[in-house]
Amino acid sequence: MDYEPKKSADGTYTLYSKKFDECYHSLRDGAFSEAYFKHVKPVFDLVKKDELKILDICFGLGINTLATIYHFQRQNSVKSLKIFSPEFDKELLKKLPSFNYPSYLSGYRNIIKSLVNEHRYEDEKIKIELFVGDAREYVKGLEDIDAVYQDAFSPKKNPTLWSVEYFKDIYMLLNSSGVLTTYSIAAPVRLGLYEAGFNVYEKEIEGIKKITIASKTELPLKKIDMQMKRKRSSSSPIWDKDISF
Ligand SMILES: C[S@@+](CC[C@H](N)C(=O)[O-])C[C@H]1O[C@@H](n2cnc3c(N)ncnc32)[C@H](O)[C@@H]1O
Repeated sequence: MDYEPKKSADGTYTLYSKKFDECYHSLRDGAFSEAYFKHVKPVFDLVKKDELKILDICFGLGINTLATIYHFQRQNSVKSLKIFSPEFDKELLKKLPSFNYPSYLSGYRNIIKSLVNEHRYEDEKIKIELFVGDAREYVKGLEDIDAVYQDAFSPKKNPTLWSVEYFKDIYMLLNSSGVLTTYSIAAPVRLGLYEAGFNVYEKEIEGIKKITIASKTELPLKKIDMQMKRKRSSSSPIWDKDISF
């Protein structure tokens, strides 16, 4: 089987991908908890906008996107939401309408069906675009984005979505107050973000693994001295020339 269901620590389900030999979410932190605490909550806490534009890299099971809608509907500072998300795995997308989402997300199955069948969803307050294809191409056509959920498979398994050249494209598409959230705290990832021009921060989250947040401007978070890290680290950022595409 190419995909195997796995129950994660918070009781929500994710999948194991045979192709990437990795799970779509951290089994230890929990699929929904990972989406909510590592991406959604930090972005809503940091970005204060009436209209929030998020790039979700990549759609996968759609848990980041659904967790964003879940939170959006329970707050009142952000008035409208736009989500842009690429995903190249057509077989995976076909499986999503029958995926075992937790009960509090299952009301959004109509959104999943619309995304899978029409690659878009829209209501009065929410607009979502699902791009079926390569994220590297997709990101070149975006601009004025407020936040990026950097949630590819690990740098070892999915290096094209962690290279300096990729992060430079992400830097370009973010607006001046834009932020990026990622579960990865690996040195090559942080060095790559720094090389692309980002400030790099670390955020501790109670009961969950800490995360990296990157931004163009200063944030009220624990900043990492990347100049020092670059001097002292034995790691290097990932460059496209080192990856076999
Ligand atoms: C860790 S999963 C994302 C989980 C997702 N954020 C969620 O909440 O369910 C990574 C996803 O990236 C997709 N992917 C990897 N490389 C890609 C690429 N170059 N373009 C588009 N999708 C890609 C994989 O097919 C997989 O679905």
